[in-house]
Formats: sequence, C-alpha cells, structure tokens
Amino acid sequence: MLVPVPAPDWMDATAVVGEALRAGTYRARAVAQAVGIIAWNGKQMDGRWWERPNYADGVFGDQVELLLRGGRLPEDRVRAALPGAAWPAGLLDVTPAGAALDGTIVPLESDLVWTDTPKRAFTGDDGLFLPDSTTLAVRRCLPRTPVARHLDLGSGGGGVVARAARSAGEAVALDINPRAGPGCHRTAALSGLGNIRPYTGTCAEAADLGAFDRVSFVLPLLLPWTGLAAAPVHTVAADRNLLRELLEQLPALLAPGGLAILYTQAWVGHGSLRAALDDAFGSRPWRGVHWWDYEGPSPVGPLRSGILAVRADGGRGWEETPLDAEDVGVDDWWPDLARRLGEG
Ligand SMILES: C[S@@+](CC[C@H](N)C(=O)[O-])C[C@H]1O[C@@H](n2cnc3c(N)ncnc32)[C@H](O)[C@@H]1O
Repeated sequence: MLVPVPAPDWMDATAVVGEALRAGTYRARAVAQAVGIIAWNGKQMDGRWWERPNYADGVFGDQVELLLRGGRLPEDRVRAALPGAAWPAGLLDVTPAGAALDGTIVPLESDLVWTDTPKRAFTGDDGLFLPDSTTLAVRRCLPRTPVARHLDLGSGGGGVVARAARSAGEAVALDINPRAGPGCHRTAALSGLGNIRPYTGTCAEAADLGAFDRVSFVLPLLLPWTGLAAAPVHTVAADRNLLRELLEQLPALLAPGGLAILYTQAWVGHGSLRAALDDAFGSRPWRGVHWWDYEGPSPVGPLRSGILAVRADGGRGWEETPLDAEDVGVDDWWPDLARRLGEG
C-alpha cells in the first residue's frame, strides 16, 4: 500500500539550517575541492569520498568535517559552524565527547542532499544510499524545461528528486524503504524546496499515483557484479526482475509525450531491452536510448549498465551506444541525450 509520508515538525528548523549553509560557503564546488575533488561529477563519486582528507580549515573546514566526513567536534566548534536551529532540527547526535551530524549533507549544484552517515548507510537493509556517479548520471540527464509532474522511484534521501523538483510543479518521491520519506523531507527543507511529496511503497504500486511527465529511477543492482571490490557500497535489488516489471508499467506511468530516465543494468531476463519495451508499449510509439557507461561480468554473463531513456509518443527508434558526454564539471547531459533521442 502506498503511504504518504507527512512532513515532520523539524521542517522549519531544518530549512533555517539549509538557508544558512546555502548562503555561506558550504556549496558544491567548494566542498568537493575541500576533499580534493575538482567537482562532484562522474567517477570521482564512486570511491569512498567521505574518507578523503579535509584540506579546508576554520569554520568551513569544521562544516566539511561535520556534514560530509562524519566527524565529531567539541560543541563550541559545532556552535560556531552551524546555526542554533541545528539543535531543534534534530540534526545532531550530542554526547559528552562533542556533537556529530546524524547523517551526511552532500551539496550537489544548489541542492543540499540529506542521507545517512556511511556507517548507518551500510548497516541493515534500511540504510539510505550515498549518492554516487549513478545518481549524478540521472541528475545530469534531466531536462531543465518545466513540467507539471515528476515521479522519482527509489528516491533514497532525495539525491535525484531534489534536482527534478527544480523543474517540476510537483515531484513525487517513492521508495520501499520507510526511512527514505523523512530523508527526502530533510533534503527538501535543506534545499529550500516546497514541492517534494514523499511516499513509502513499491515501484509496482506507482501507477496508483497517476501519470507523470517525467519518471526517474536509479535502480539498485539487479545482479551483483562479479569480482568488484566496491560491491558493498552498492545495494542489490531484492527482485532481479525489477527492471522488467518497471518497463511493463512504464506506459501507464508516462503521460502523453512523457520521458523516463533510468540508470540500470540492462537485465530483463530473457530477451533484449528493446524487445521488453516493444512488448510493454504495444502499438504506442516510443523512442529509446541505452547510453551505457560500464560493461562487467555478472552471474548471468557480461552485462552493461548505464542510462536508459525512453520518450513516449515521440516516434520510433532505438540506439545502444557508449556514454560519451563530457564528464568533470558538467552538470547537464540533456542536450547530448536529446540528440540521441532524435530531439536535438
Ligand atoms: C541505488 S539507490 C538510489 C537512491 C537515490 N535515488 C540516489 O540516487 O541517491 C536505489 C533505491 O531504490 C529503492 N528500491 C529498491 N527496490 C525498490 C522497489 N521495488 N520499489 C521502490 N523502491 C525500491 C531502495 O530502497 C533505494 O533507496
């Protein structure tokens, strides 16, 4: 059953913290550079970025320590680094040894994305995903032109829906994990966004929310990559048929002319992505691109993963091609993707 997640009473205090951070230096490029990254783009987000050394000092250095690296600092330094609203907002874990953030705040463009601390993210099965290059890939593919309704499936703490909300009247965030909805509310309040509506439920239930102009989903791995040391930082889907089931309901989720942008392994069981989309759409026209950026070994043989973009009602066409867009420092891939979809 789909359950709307009500806005918690800490929204206003959290918004005060977000406003102060966004007005100061806790911004995407400065924070990335504080931990030795040129910009929060591409594959640099696939490592354990939260463990990188902190090269910033003073109050900004303390903010990076607290908000990004999970450090614990004496309370007087925390009071200098964060506005007083951080306490009533319930953002802090305070002990006699000092205060630490009860999560992580990742600045991406003008969004402040809330998620778990790395320790919490990887314990149990209800941790919130730490944004990585797959999150960035979907964010970068989203067009900036405004639409009425956006649906972000598997929202986690809101890494994708925050950017989607900047170009949508309403941005619905849906995740099977009940901890994701409150995470999205944190991200909305920190980012100054008032149009994110989180729900708890499964993607199989999404059609109950109506049709959308845009749909996004950074899918968990359908099958674990074999031999990849980085595997523990990636979630694996409970159901390896998740993509096939999502494609089957895509025509119902997409309003006329709607656009879906997913990041996924190309695994639909038997048959190809193109055949699965043909089956799903029947006589309704669609165009699609699988813009893949990785090919690796899996228990069912070599698989590709990357962006899968589908435009409903936009004529017919299909392309599978390596992702060749400019990477570091580039926040927009839509113009490249639009050309691949025959729209540029
Ligand atoms: C790879 S994470 C992406 C999180 C977030 N969008 C991001 O990029 O930072 C995948 C998310 O899908 C959610 N998920 C997995 N299976 C799902 C399902 N069947 N229905 C809805 N959400 C699901 C997980 O709980 C997780 O939050």
